[in-house]
Amino acid sequence: MNFPVVRKRRLRKTQLIRDAVAETHLCAQDLIYPLFVNDERHSRVAVPSMPGIYQQSVDNAVIEAGKALEAGIRAVLVFGIPAEKDQEGSNAWFEQGVTQRAIRELKRQFGNDLMVIADTCLCEYTSHGHCGVLLEGRVLNDPTLDILARTAVSQAQAGADMIAPSDMMDGRVAYIRDSLDDAGYDDTPIMAYSAKYASSLYSPFRDAAESTPSSGDRKGYQMDPRNAREALEEVLLDVQEGADMVMVKPALSYMDIISQVRRAVNIPVVAYNVSGEYSMVKAAAANGWIDERSVVTELLTGIKRAGADLIITYHALDAARWLT
Ligand code: PBG
Ligand code: ZN
Repeated sequence: MNFPVVRKRRLRKTQLIRDAVAETHLCAQDLIYPLFVNDERHSRVAVPSMPGIYQQSVDNAVIEAGKALEAGIRAVLVFGIPAEKDQEGSNAWFEQGVTQRAIRELKRQFGNDLMVIADTCLCEYTSHGHCGVLLEGRVLNDPTLDILARTAVSQAQAGADMIAPSDMMDGRVAYIRDSLDDAGYDDTPIMAYSAKYASSLYSPFRDAAESTPSSGDRKGYQMDPRNAREALEEVLLDVQEGADMVMVKPALSYMDIISQVRRAVNIPVVAYNVSGEYSMVKAAAANGWIDERSVVTELLTGIKRAGADLIITYHALDAARWLT
C-alpha cells in the first residue's frame, strides 16, 4: 500500500494528534541540574562563558536547588571548588571540604525530595588540574584509585544519594564499590561516567570549576572521539565492576554512542549535555540567531530519543520551567 492511500501527514494534522502519537516525552524529572559550589560566604559569581550559571557558596546553592525543585527537577549534581588545592587533591575528601558541606546542607534542607549526586573526581582539587595523581607528566592510575575511593566514601558519609566518578581511571568503579561497601554504604549507587570522551566541549566547565590542567591534556585517560566500539567496552566493564547507571559524555556529538549503549545494557543510561554544548546555544540565542526555548527543547528531546533516560544539563532549570 502506498500513496495516495498512505499519507503520513494525516497524523501531523493537529497538535492533539501529534501529541497523541509522539514517541518521546521530555519531562522535568529527566533532568539533572549541575551546581558549582565554592568555599566562600554569600557568594554568587557569574561564569562568563556559561551565561546563567554561577559559582556560588553553599547557602546560595541551596537557594538555587530550591528553585530547581520548585520547577520539578529532582536531582542536582554537585561540583565543589575548594579554596585550596594541592598535588594530591586532598580537599576532595576532607570532611569539612566544600563538596561535603554542600551535600550535607542540601540533604538537611531537602531530605528525600532532592537527589544529591556527587561528582567524584580530583581535577577541581589538584594544583595541576589533572583528574589523578601526576608524576613526571603522567597521570598515575592505581595510586589515584585510593584517593577517589576515599573521596567517594566521604561524599556518601556527607549524605550523597549517588556517587558519580568522572575521572576515567581504569578499575575505579570496582574500587569505589568495594570501599563504599566496606564503609557501610552498600546501598549508595554509582553513576559511572563510563564513556567520557576527551572533548574540546569542556572548556567552559573548566572555567566554572577552575579545573583546567596546567600542562598537557586529558587524552591519556579520557576516550578518543574517533572510537565507538571502545565506548561499549568501557560501559560493559563498568557494568561488570558494579555501576548502577552508565553515562555517555558529551551528548550532542555522541548521539550514536548513546543509542548503542542503550541497546547494549538494561540499566539506566545518562547523557551529559556538556558546558560547550550549552555555551554554543546560549551564544547563538543571545545573538538572536536561534530561538533558545525551541532549540533547547529539540536538543534535549533528541538526546532522550537517542536513548538517554536522564540528562545532565545546564539548561535544566529553564527547560523544567518551560515543560511545566
Ligand atoms: C571533571 C569533569 C569535567 C566535566 C565533568 N566532570 C571536565 C573535564 O573532564 O575536564 C565536564 C562537564 C562539562 O563540560 O559540562 N572530571
Ligand atoms: Zn576530573
